[in-house]
Amino acid sequence: MTKLPIYMDNHATTPVDPRVLEAMLPCFGTDFGNAASTSHAYGWNAEKMAAESRNHIAKLIGAASKELIFTSGATESNNLALKGVSDVYREAGDHIITQVTEHKCVLETCHYLEKKGMRVTYLPVDSTGLISIEGLKKVITDKTILISIMFANNEIGTIQPVREIGEIAKEKGILFHVDAAQAVGKIPIDVEMLGIDLLSFSAHKMYGPKGVGGLYVRQKNPRVRLAPLFSGGGQEFGLRSGTLNVPGIVGMAKACEIAYLECAQEMRRITELRDRLHRGICAKVPDVLLNGHPTERLANNLNLSFQGVDGESMIMSLNPFVAVSSSSACMSGTSGTSYVLKALGLDTTRIQASIRFGLGRFNTAEQVDAVIDKVAEVVSKLRELSPVYRKK
Ligand SMILES: Cc1ncc(COP(=O)(O)O)c(C=O)c1O
Repeated sequence: MTKLPIYMDNHATTPVDPRVLEAMLPCFGTDFGNAASTSHAYGWNAEKMAAESRNHIAKLIGAASKELIFTSGATESNNLALKGVSDVYREAGDHIITQVTEHKCVLETCHYLEKKGMRVTYLPVDSTGLISIEGLKKVITDKTILISIMFANNEIGTIQPVREIGEIAKEKGILFHVDAAQAVGKIPIDVEMLGIDLLSFSAHKMYGPKGVGGLYVRQKNPRVRLAPLFSGGGQEFGLRSGTLNVPGIVGMAKACEIAYLECAQEMRRITELRDRLHRGICAKVPDVLLNGHPTERLANNLNLSFQGVDGESMIMSLNPFVAVSSSSACMSGTSGTSYVLKALGLDTTRIQASIRFGLGRFNTAEQVDAVIDKVAEVVSKLRELSPVYRKK
């Protein structure tokens, strides 16, 4: 029997992998020490666990372990990267380039920085969610200090041309920050090969615990300097004061270790499930449109618009059978029109008819088939009630 509701909202968060939980449990018992306690075995043990964790996490993204800062998640990492760079490099320039479909934690940080006197260019995206490389080259000035472009979008899954952006940034001597919250553990990432200087990620998007994440900060070619957000005990190379969240860090490391070993195989399996879901829905339901990029897309993402159906009503009707969402859960439960879909140039009716399916490690083909049937049933009912939908 499938447990209900079937969870297909893995962009919002992922369940903790039982192997991650198992790795974390000793930290709530015998291994409770403070990693900064240097005078006894409890502290040394915690320090050792944090150090080993750092190695596992660094390996997943091709970084050196001393280039990782532990944070509370991608929101904090993005804040630290953008504010930290703006603070230190202000003399060199006052211009940042980002894009309109970034997560709110990047956009809101940029708005904050604008109030502090920085200038920010928000690149537009095309109808599939991609920025234009030519467009990026055009807006670079000698005052540009940072390009911040997300790896993959949390609503439509569109994957940006990160390598090309990295090359341009290198050529121009501009720092390149990537919000990879949706990508780490799902797409192979090598910060060296991609020319990334700062990379944000979050454990709860890759089957790890909530409230822990990291920021990769390049240490050579160039050595990136940052101003910290917090004042305090000077943990994390002075960049993130506060007692280390050792249980969270151990869990994140286990999540990274699993991803390192299983990511390629898992993505093939999830792509098949995602495509099965897409094909199955389209076979049973007419007038369904895909939002985002048809191929440059996260393996687990399927954002669809069901003509003549209100997305929110559909989500409610899918409850308590399927757990999905219409867009970002990261905006504290606010609903409203998705600014990401708007940026693609979609009209309000299509935006309001959209649903985001986010598949994950624990979904099965049986669940996918059950979701297809339920979606077909719900859409058919809602369309019968719809004053605007006419069968073709
Ligand atoms: C692309 C992206 N960036 C940042 C975040 C924020 O991450 P966290 O919840 O770890 O603060 C999210 C969460 O949904 C995200 O999808």
